[in-house]
Amino acid sequence: MYDFNFWSPTRFVFGRGATDRTGEELARLGYKNVLIVYGGGSVVRTGTLDRVKASLDAAGITHIELGGVRPNPEIASVRAGIELAREHKVDLVLPVGGGSAMDAAKAIALGTPYEDDVWDFFAKRAVPAEHIPVGCVVTIPASGSEASNSCVISNDELHLKSGCNTDLNRPVIAILDPELTFTLPPYQTAAGITDMIAHIMERFFSGAPAVPVTDNIACGMIRAVIDAAPRVMEDPEDYDARANIMWVGTLAHNGLAGNGLMIPGSGRDGDWSCHGLEHELSAFDTTITHGAGLAVIFPAWMRYVWREHAERFLEFGSQVFGIEPIDPEVDDLSDIDVEITPELAVEYAVEATIDELQEFFVSLGMPRTLGELGIKKEDIDALLVGLKINKGEQFGTFRPLTLDDARAIYESAL
Ligand code: NZQ
Ligand code: ZN
Repeated sequence: MYDFNFWSPTRFVFGRGATDRTGEELARLGYKNVLIVYGGGSVVRTGTLDRVKASLDAAGITHIELGGVRPNPEIASVRAGIELAREHKVDLVLPVGGGSAMDAAKAIALGTPYEDDVWDFFAKRAVPAEHIPVGCVVTIPASGSEASNSCVISNDELHLKSGCNTDLNRPVIAILDPELTFTLPPYQTAAGITDMIAHIMERFFSGAPAVPVTDNIACGMIRAVIDAAPRVMEDPEDYDARANIMWVGTLAHNGLAGNGLMIPGSGRDGDWSCHGLEHELSAFDTTITHGAGLAVIFPAWMRYVWREHAERFLEFGSQVFGIEPIDPEVDDLSDIDVEITPELAVEYAVEATIDELQEFFVSLGMPRTLGELGIKKEDIDALLVGLKINKGEQFGTFRPLTLDDARAIYESAL
């Protein structure tokens, strides 16, 4: 079990009606003047924005707002938000939405006290030293941005989608009201579920040896989501299922699932290759939903790399899906006409595990292939250009990948 330094400073206010307590909670923490950030209008249509504003008014907190942040948020909205935050001297940025609103808010919070252009942080030309605090009202469980140290922003002019990781990004408070997620379209529900499972798997498959306490937390959370997912697909207003999914979404990415798994010297508590490979898809076509891209990339990556640490896949398959390698001493092999060597038993178990995971994503309505996302073989060169800028010539810790490996993984997913 490797050493770790786990810091999750966010206050979580979880439950029915938490939305209406936003103002009260922020006032208690001393905030007086906030910039609300939201997306394309779902929070207007559902009445969530009005509820948040009413609660701020009731608590005596003044507010201005920036709407229209698109999924895969673009740097232009961030720059517009920075202008507003400076002009009105806000003391907190308050996204009301999903990862896109939250990440735009985080970037605004980093950029406001910074003298130069905020993109410098994403181009890794500068490291943020200060910020305005961020508090979140979460409307979709997916990105885990409400407790993460990450912030991912697109730059359409440069055809890039890049991240900035710093503990400054960790929000001071997250309002988690599962009832807000009742209105999610099934595709977004499914993409969110895929993303949170991916956040756990990036860490589980870091390449580090087993850490039973963390592995049990990780696999237990995935089992809870797999159990709840069909229930919300069947009944979008199943509060208990929505609540379980929402809480896993947060814990999947606040660092809890990676403790003890960070390979020394790697700088991150996980492999993160699949996120790197996916971010190039949603940079290339900004209409691609992050979780949907991951549903295609993760199984493809797994099929490519599993041999490096087959034992981790056996552990995952056993804990999440109850899959065990065939044991010729015990199992009935009358239907199998090949000789089951120990190696073949492992291969079958790992393949069954990856198949089961992929079928789960597909059962929720997620794509199986890049083709379903509109990506063609001739697009791969463009994906690799961005990948090289964001991740370099070699990346990943489970199995270090080159750009040629990345090409092979993309091609295998076409
Ligand atoms: O834009 P609006 O109109 O609000 O609609 C959104 C959007 O179309 C809609 N939506 C959200 N809540 C809703 C709702 N519709 C109805 N009812 C509700 N309650 O859902 C769509 C997706 O929203 P978005 O915020 O884009 O989703 P998500 O939370 O999946 O965020 C995705 C972004 O987060 C980044 C992704 O790369 C992507 O840019 N990520 C951020 C991370 C982080 N900061 O830690 C980690 C992740 O790995 C990820 O990279
Ligand atoms: Zn993600």
